[in-house]
Amino acid sequence: MILAIETSCDDTCAAVVTDAGEVVSNVVASQGVHARFGGVVPEWASRHHLEFANAVVDQSLADVSLDDITLVAVTQGPGLVGALLVGVATAKGIAAARRLPLAAVDHMQGHVAANFLQPDPFEPPFVCLLASGGHTLLAHVRDHEGYETLGQTLDDAAGEAFDKGARLLGLGYPGGPALSKLAATGDPTAFAFPTAARVAGLDFSFAGLKTALLYKVRDLGEEETARRAADLAASYEHAIVEALIMRVERALEIEPRLAIGGGVAANRLLRERAAALGVPVHIPPPQLCTDNAAMIASAARWVQAAAFPEYLALDAYANRRAA
Ligand code: KG4
Ligand code: ZN
Repeated sequence: MILAIETSCDDTCAAVVTDAGEVVSNVVASQGVHARFGGVVPEWASRHHLEFANAVVDQSLADVSLDDITLVAVTQGPGLVGALLVGVATAKGIAAARRLPLAAVDHMQGHVAANFLQPDPFEPPFVCLLASGGHTLLAHVRDHEGYETLGQTLDDAAGEAFDKGARLLGLGYPGGPALSKLAATGDPTAFAFPTAARVAGLDFSFAGLKTALLYKVRDLGEEETARRAADLAASYEHAIVEALIMRVERALEIEPRLAIGGGVAANRLLRERAAALGVPVHIPPPQLCTDNAAMIASAARWVQAAAFPEYLALDAYANRRAA
């Protein structure tokens, strides 16, 4: 059995997963303290991880004995370094005390490996779209060990575009679900927002879209913006989803099977558009799409673990590794 810890952003996560990919426990403590700042505050995130880490690990071991754990896994990066270090130190401590091996896992590979978990594993090869508040990535997954980056965002992440749009419309943080809910009652053709169609290849860009909404809201004025909020939300959501689907369609020419992960995978319109693409589509359950430790344990199954005491010098990294 694998005990995994994930603290790359603001969620403190621990999970136990079997070698066969069955999820025994999957605990997530969300911090919620960032809402009033309109985003994640790195120093707050680290402090909360420190406060929650032991309790979250304990809870993940509620029905399993630590004696049954044969491997400890942890997210090494990318993410907020101060946040990652809390998870890395916790994992090192547990592993070292038990003389267990430690597997250092890449967060993005974790999102990919969420698809390999029971009871409904999706086997490579496939194209994987990862869209969350922190990342937007198209990956070509040929095996369980890694992936090739086909495209990524040149500026904002897709979830960030949802959040910034929601903020401009006065909808709070994180705004994706609220914006999407409002959009359901609006007309997606009411306003034409850019989809960065001119960005060639498989990269994404959402900064222009956010600016277009900002100007539109200024032009309309407060009263008219409030009156047309549903149309604005629907048109804005439509632009984000079309931008995503446009690149996905290009990538499916390389590999006609699709997996979607990250918080934005919860989006109703994206799901509808993906289901209509005419290829097999796999979307893990919501708790495995957003940040979690079960996906880190899943990825650890194909990572070369370090033996005690080699991993004591293990460090976290902030930025995405070249893949
Ligand atoms: O994966 P996640 O929980 O956290 C990280 O960012 O790592 O993703 C959260 C993001 C937020 O930007 C949120 O607004 C967006 O996913 N999101 C949605 C929906 N649910 C969550 N965006 C659009 N529609 C949704 N239904
Ligand atoms: Zn993530």
